[in-house]
Amino acid sequence: MRIGIIGSGPVGQALAKAFLSEGYDVMLGTRNVIKPELVKFNAENKAVAIGNFAEAAQFGEMIVLATGGLVARDAIKLAGHANFSGKIVIDTTNPIAKEPPVNGVLKYFTSLDESLMERIQKELPDAKLVKAFNSVGNALMYRPGFKGGPPSMFICGDDEEAKKKVTAILRSFGWEAEDMGKVEAARAIEPLCMLWCIPGFLSNHWTTHAFKLLKK
Ligand SMILES: NC(=O)c1ccc[n+]([C@@H]2O[C@H](COP(=O)([O-])OP(=O)(O)OC[C@H]3O[C@@H](n4cnc5c(N)ncnc54)[C@H](OP(=O)(O)O)[C@@H]3O)[C@@H](O)[C@H]2O)c1
Repeated sequence: MRIGIIGSGPVGQALAKAFLSEGYDVMLGTRNVIKPELVKFNAENKAVAIGNFAEAAQFGEMIVLATGGLVARDAIKLAGHANFSGKIVIDTTNPIAKEPPVNGVLKYFTSLDESLMERIQKELPDAKLVKAFNSVGNALMYRPGFKGGPPSMFICGDDEEAKKKVTAILRSFGWEAEDMGKVEAARAIEPLCMLWCIPGFLSNHWTTHAFKLLKK
C-alpha cells in the first residue's frame, strides 16, 4: 500500500521510516523539498519519495497527517481536500497553542468539549480519520521495545474498518491499540500528549515512557 505523509517534521520522518521498514511505499510531503534537514533525511532514506503536500496526498492510498496542530488546516488546503476523499487518514496532530508550557504543562487551543480531530474531520467529511501516535514521542513510534511488552496506543474515529486497519498497523509497529470509540474520544486522547510531555519538559525524559492500559 502507498502511504502519503503530510508533514516532514520528526513525526513525519519517523513514520516514513517505520512504514518503509514494513514494506510500504512512502512519500513524505513538505512545503519545501530543498530544506536542508529533508535533503539529509532523503540522502539517508533514499527509498522514501519526497513531494509537496498535494503530491503526497495524491500518492497515498492511506494518508498520515503530521503537521503542527495550528497549521493543520493550512496544510490540508495545500494538500487539496479532494485528495483525502474516501481515504484512511491517521491523525497524529495535537492542538498545541503558541504559548509556552506552564511548569511543563502544554497549553492547548481547544477546550475539553472539542478536539482538533473533530475540527479536521469536519474539514474532511469524506475522509476516514483515525487518531493515533499523538500521545508518544516520535522516537518510540516504531518498535518501542519496552521490557513490559507493547504499550497502549489510544485510538478513535468514526469508521470501524479504518480503525481495524490502523490497529493492524499499530500491532506491526509494536503497539497494542485501545479503541476508545468515535471521533469525540479525541477530546480525551489529545490531552494525553500533555501528560506524556511533562516528564520531558521537567526532567528531559523524552524516550523512556509510554502509556499502558491494564485490564482484568
Ligand atoms: N514531535 C513529536 O514527537 C510528536 C509526537 C506525537 C505527536 N506529535 C504531533 O504531531 C504533529 C507533527 O509534529 P512534528 O514534531 O513532527 O512537527 P511540527 O513541527 O509540529 O510540524 C512540521 C510540519 O508542519 C508543517 N508546517 C509548518 N508551518 C506550516 C504552515 N504554515 N502551513 C502548512 N504546513 C506547515 C511543516 O511544513 P514543511 O515540511 O514545509 O516544513 C512540517 O511539514 C504535531 O501536531 C505534534 O503535536 C508530535
